[in-house]
Amino acid sequence: MLSGKVNTKKLKKSEKEHTPETTAYGTRYFKNSIPKFEIPEEGMSSRAAYLLIHDELNLDGNPSLNLASFVTTWMEPEADQLIMESVDKNYVDTDEYPQTLKIQERVVNMLARLFNAPTDCNYMGTATIGSSEAIMLGLLAHKWSWREKRKSEGKPCDKPNIVMGADVHTVWEKFAKYFDVELKLIPLKEDLYTITAEDVVGAVDENTIAVGAVVGTTFTGQMDPIKEINDKLVEIKKTKGWDIPLHVDGASGGFILPFLQPDLEWDFRLSQVRSINVSGHKYGLVYPGVGWLIFKDKKDVPEDLVFNITYLGGNMSNYSLNFSKGSSTIIAQYYNFIRLGFEGYKSIMENLQENAKYLAHELEKTGNFEVINKEVDFPLVTVTLKNTDFTVYQLSDKLREKGWIIPAYKLPENAQDVHVLRMVIKENFSRDMIENLLSDLKEAYQILQSKEKEEKKDNLTLLY
Ligand SMILES: Cc1ncc(COP(=O)(O)O)c(C=O)c1O
Repeated sequence: MLSGKVNTKKLKKSEKEHTPETTAYGTRYFKNSIPKFEIPEEGMSSRAAYLLIHDELNLDGNPSLNLASFVTTWMEPEADQLIMESVDKNYVDTDEYPQTLKIQERVVNMLARLFNAPTDCNYMGTATIGSSEAIMLGLLAHKWSWREKRKSEGKPCDKPNIVMGADVHTVWEKFAKYFDVELKLIPLKEDLYTITAEDVVGAVDENTIAVGAVVGTTFTGQMDPIKEINDKLVEIKKTKGWDIPLHVDGASGGFILPFLQPDLEWDFRLSQVRSINVSGHKYGLVYPGVGWLIFKDKKDVPEDLVFNITYLGGNMSNYSLNFSKGSSTIIAQYYNFIRLGFEGYKSIMENLQENAKYLAHELEKTGNFEVINKEVDFPLVTVTLKNTDFTVYQLSDKLREKGWIIPAYKLPENAQDVHVLRMVIKENFSRDMIENLLSDLKEAYQILQSKEKEEKKDNLTLLY
């Protein structure tokens, strides 16, 4: 959101537009400030507009050095080409672009099977803008199903709640607020940054619309014990009759576990897992913004929520928060699936994990860092600092001087005294880049440590 003083200065028309004897930089646009608050009366040449914005965007960080984000920063040139070829297609115009719809349905099928949805169930799913939209839609469906069931039993349905750990992404809390559901947040512990099945048992009741659990937490890259939680929910269903669905947030982990730990049961193999979200734009290896929501069974989505609409001469059913959206990332997801196949994804994920393990190991070896996600189930490394008076925030700032973007933050409630640095390893982050990062990390560490020693010496001198 922008506010501030309106720049009313208008660009003066100049005799000197783009002429053969100068470059765009020789035109008047480059010696005047550019409009920031009001659409200017007159435009400018496309070259000038391009260069002005292009140059300004150099102030952004470099995506390749951005280890803060999980989001894809590189795709193959053929994917780029397909993206550009479909960038003008509105996904929602399914009557006009029926092939794009078919491609989306193919991806949903492939994902449902990747997540082991029983083929005798009528699984269903949809593309979304990202995991956030997918989580909201998934939970909304569970809220409606819970309400319908309560009504049919003649029971009150005015106090829905949702159970999750404080290790969830902020979008879960957003759901609770936006959709008026009581948030039962299980706090972390001083030395455990995920939840336990027992925590869940203590929190659920007959008004619980769903339990949320994460594979690949945003904070530390760990996972909630999905199978144990599922087993407890099965027990609760048997003993108390509460059939509580489990929604798994696989924003990043959903594209890792099927390739690296295929035998681990975290998905639709578990009976209470009714819906899963995954971000195509994270380890799905597609640029932002695409996410996916898969329901194990169509019956989990109340019919009332699916809009059957007549639009632009055709009939379509729609379950989304957004209406219009681009098609290109959906198409790019399909490109990746048929281009890489299972084996292609697997080898990329193996490289990522090996590189993350190498980074974790080298950092531990220095004796200055403690790795939190020791198992490195997912390709990211979260560390705390050992024995220093300087902070992770100072180290993060120091690394920024070299262009590295490595976030520093504190963990959620009950573990808020733990301050960490997190490095997400992405497809285009090679071993060579990890070596460069390690060398810069060690150098930054030493600079801060020497500074700290100097300061201590100065303080001592002052005392005498
Ligand atoms: C575990 C988890 N869930 C949900 C989200 C939100 O995903 P998106 O950015 O695709 O909306 C993220 C984002 O990092 C995440 O890490």
